[in-house]
Amino acid sequence: MSERIDRRNILELTGRTALVTGAGQGVGAETARYLAAQGANVVINDYVAERAEAVVAEIVDAGGHAVAAPADITDFQLVADLVASTSAELGPIDVLVNNAGNAGADPDALTGKPFWEKDPAEWEPFLQVNLYGALNCSRAVIPGMIAAGNGGRLITVISDAGRVGESGLEAYSAAKAGAAGLTRALARSLGRYDITANNVAIAATRTPAITAMTDNEDYAKKVLRNYVIRRFGEPSDPAALITFLASGASGWITGQTYPVNGGFSVNQ
Ligand SMILES: NC(=O)c1ccc[n+]([C@@H]2O[C@H](COP(=O)([O-])OP(=O)(O)OC[C@H]3O[C@@H](n4cnc5c(N)ncnc54)[C@H](O)[C@@H]3O)[C@@H](O)[C@H]2O)c1
Repeated sequence: MSERIDRRNILELTGRTALVTGAGQGVGAETARYLAAQGANVVINDYVAERAEAVVAEIVDAGGHAVAAPADITDFQLVADLVASTSAELGPIDVLVNNAGNAGADPDALTGKPFWEKDPAEWEPFLQVNLYGALNCSRAVIPGMIAAGNGGRLITVISDAGRVGESGLEAYSAAKAGAAGLTRALARSLGRYDITANNVAIAATRTPAITAMTDNEDYAKKVLRNYVIRRFGEPSDPAALITFLASGASGWITGQTYPVNGGFSVNQ
């Protein structure tokens, strides 16, 4: 993907097809808007079909190219079918953004119980979407990327919980760390095909997933004490970095994890 770089527009994605999972709202939706603005054909996945369709309509109204691909990414067969049908329509996927996450299909999965009181079944929603979702989607898109011979980009949205751990979110932290490990291994396997794989690790970002936190002024103030830049992230914060990692300009970057976190954790 590096041969196409235009110095005046290093993020150009015209003619590329990008699949963004969980793109019906939040970080995924904003990422889809950013990629479409750079000219990509964007496949908008979400298990809530109306959300995916609303984002498609918005992108198309703005003059971009997008199609809806509703499916639960925790089901490998559904993902394989989605990739086969969208590739037939738009060509092989050049960019995969593994974004769907949090508690996946089960908003009640956050019980507040200590880890050592949880039933193993309670870990499942986190492992399914954050780890198996990334495995399923990566497995489904890679053969097409290799066959097309145009290189490719795998970008996985993890969490600082997966880097530094978060109390109360043990299974989620483990799933995100697992997804990050998958990225590192795939980076090694796929370098010879010019396919890069990187993680973007985000911290508290203003999306529908965390409105209970962002809408509670006192609690929000307490949380933001842990941030060097004292505001919540906006979906545009990770979307900008993901767009760069999706572009031809990032061709010599692979196997890495980039925090977009307002300084929540600070590392070398
Ligand atoms: N918002 C934060 O503070 C925060 C912090 C750290 C990491 N993250 C990570 O960032 C990513 C995006 O988070 P967000 O806050 O924008 O999410 P969100 O919960 O607001 O939106 C996620 C979207 O994904 C969809 N989705 C969930 N499970 C799915 C599945 N199995 N198949 C298909 N679609 C599915 C949902 O319907 C929803 O529309 C996630 O991976 C999340 O774990 C978010």
